Amino acid sequence: MRFIIASFLASSSALAAPVSFSKQIAPILAGQCLECHRAEKAKGGYRLDTFEQLLKTGDSEEATVVPGKAEASELYELLVVHDDSDRMPKKADALPEKDIALIRQWISEGAKYDGSNAQASLTSLLPQKVAQTLEKYPRPIPVTALALNGDGKVLVTSGYHEVLSWDPATGKMRGRLAGMPERVLGLSFVQGGPWLAVAGGTPGRSGEVWLVNYAKPAERKRLAQMRDCALDAVTSPDGKYLVTAGADNRVRCFALPEGKEIWNLEAHADWILGLAISPDGQHVATASRDRTAKVMKTATGEIEGTFTGHSVPVLSVAFAPDGKEVISGGQDGEARRWTLDGTGKKDSTLRPAGRTEVLALSYLNQDTPITASGSGQVSVIDAKARKTKARLVMHGDRVNAMALLGGGDGQAVITASHDGEIRITQMVDNKELRKFVASPGW
Ligand code: HEC
Repeated sequence: MRFIIASFLASSSALAAPVSFSKQIAPILAGQCLECHRAEKAKGGYRLDTFEQLLKTGDSEEATVVPGKAEASELYELLVVHDDSDRMPKKADALPEKDIALIRQWISEGAKYDGSNAQASLTSLLPQKVAQTLEKYPRPIPVTALALNGDGKVLVTSGYHEVLSWDPATGKMRGRLAGMPERVLGLSFVQGGPWLAVAGGTPGRSGEVWLVNYAKPAERKRLAQMRDCALDAVTSPDGKYLVTAGADNRVRCFALPEGKEIWNLEAHADWILGLAISPDGQHVATASRDRTAKVMKTATGEIEGTFTGHSVPVLSVAFAPDGKEVISGGQDGEARRWTLDGTGKKDSTLRPAGRTEVLALSYLNQDTPITASGSGQVSVIDAKARKTKARLVMHGDRVNAMALLGGGDGQAVITASHDGEIRITQMVDNKELRKFVASPGW
């Protein structure tokens, strides 16, 4: 009974409070509308990337927001119009009823602006998430992303609404970056520091891209907000570019360190599951559920080649050290080598993992790719002989991500598994150096 009264009070007071543009409306518009209505791409001649822009009319010259009159406001009318082809967001489901009701209420209350600068970008207004960090995890959670910084001293892994950082030498936790997307699916350090790129989201609901100062986590900026998860993030070795891609089939490129978006392209017909950047930073490769992999120019997004050799979803991709060859991994357990123009090599097909999917790829050297698979295994391949040279590490569950640590005889591979475990394994002799569960409290 106490609960019922409390929730009743909470909901009635929510109705009584005026709708806040920056806390309630901006997140809806940024997530659902911004991708088609911003400076670089203003569909229908209409932008809503700042509050000032949002009040202006588009090509139709109909008033977009009439304070106090939702029915006379095109922005509201286009959310509820019956004809699917006219309704916003275009080519997507209608907004949830509660979001439409909020927008209606906000306009009815006078379409007030509660930020401090009407020219500020909508994304800068979005509320910082209240940290929902759990002190201890009730059970280990899958590790879906990891990254190692330039000197190999900081390892970051995906957490629940957070990024966890570890000392790879001891396996001890160094710190926790809270207020991150619910699922963290892509992590990449920016060369030269102190920034870490974080991509993720809530499946089917929202996607986010962040730059976080990992030395001072309060210093952070949200670079993009999408309708579905960002699934991967890579930065160029010269620290100039961040590229992300995800479940909206788009690839986005941002200039670093400021984080301004320089291009944004619908590159595939289905989810983009993996990304790689060439050693010279000039090319980006994508792996997609649409069964193709592509290469595009980092500076412009111009597509240089499409590889159609997989007849199954492509899950992972990597550049060879010479930057001229790409390897991509499929759901059927095959990895294939090809050149930047999308042409497959004659001896291209490798079957490192039996019939389990190739989830992550890397290179030991030009002719020695490494694959991580759904069976929990990491394989070192002799690409010329098309043979598996060594089978390393065996996790109890799929390996979602890996990174190489150190060099020479001491070189190790760090692997992250779906069962929550991180293992650091020396490559020459498959010796396990360290093993820990990357969930706080475990
Ligand atoms: C996938 C792209 C896309 C998305 C997402 C999208 N729009 Fe649009 N929008 C368009 C296009 C295209 C037009 C031009 C008219 C048309 O083709 O129907 C348009 C037109 C408009 C117009 C009319 C502009 C004018 O004066 O002619 C408004 C207002 C608008 N959109 C608001 C929104 C809102 C609000 C959202 C989010 C809930 C949204 N749009 C999401 C593509 C999009």
